[in-house]
Amino acid sequence: MNNKDKQMIYYKAKEFVLEAGERIRQKMHCPFVIETKSNPNDLVTEIDQDTERFFAERIRSEFPTHRLLGEEGLGDHVKDLQGTLWIVDPIDGTMNFVHQKRNFAISVAVYQDGVGEIGLIYDVMTDCLYHAKRGEGAYKNGDLLRPLSKEKSLAEAIVGVNGIWATENTRVHKEGIQQLIRKVRGTRSYGSAALEFAYVAEGIMDAYVTMRLSPWDIAAGMVLVQEVGGMTTQANGKAVNMLMTNSIVATNKAIHQEIMEQYITLKKY
Ligand code: IPD
Ligand code: CA
Ligand code: CA
Ligand code: CA
Repeated sequence: MNNKDKQMIYYKAKEFVLEAGERIRQKMHCPFVIETKSNPNDLVTEIDQDTERFFAERIRSEFPTHRLLGEEGLGDHVKDLQGTLWIVDPIDGTMNFVHQKRNFAISVAVYQDGVGEIGLIYDVMTDCLYHAKRGEGAYKNGDLLRPLSKEKSLAEAIVGVNGIWATENTRVHKEGIQQLIRKVRGTRSYGSAALEFAYVAEGIMDAYVTMRLSPWDIAAGMVLVQEVGGMTTQANGKAVNMLMTNSIVATNKAIHQEIMEQYITLKKY
């Protein structure tokens, strides 16, 4: 992807995201259908689906050679990362969207041959857009985000973690997560992976640790975190695979290794 193309795709991606956000704000106060997916707490609404359809139509019409990987399945059946791939979560934080009408985001990334080139995370209700192009820094609206501090210690860190991982579960030993919760200054759980990545990039949270996320939850956030000098890996330290679910440790680099080595023991599954 040359710079001129990248700039044009970035401009269009921003346009799509802002328009999709406006559509969500307009529709969300009218009645809408809510369904469940894999379990009774896994919600999806017609607005999630409608928003993904909006992206699919816009991307196909403006960029017919690009492919789309979207949570709601209205994109392509993506089995490899070749070419230009949009990775879209139309509403990240659907439970918040349904119950709270806030704290949800649109997450859009553009990857070229597996490399994250563009990341956009739009907090729809606060009209706050986090955006980044690889190698050009990350922004919150018009403000350049500063590189993450190299001095951070775990004792002074705020860590995003869902309490579920501190209870008995199939993926990680809960004792380590409990010790991490005790060690750090504070924990947060916002219910939108995309926003939690954005907060790590902004430096208002120092790490986000979770055991299972899909590509659309993380694709844009990884670009943002990378641009401020942060780091995202699986919880075993391996590189994230954008074609499957991953455990995730996204952090200020200063505390990455310590979290992984001292506090996370994965179960075999
Ligand atoms: C969910 C949110 C949530 C995370 C879940 C995701 P969705 O995405 O990001 O914070 O804990 O694992 O599935 O379904 O609301 O787009
Ligand atoms: Ca979902
Ligand atoms: Ca999501
Ligand atoms: Ca979603």
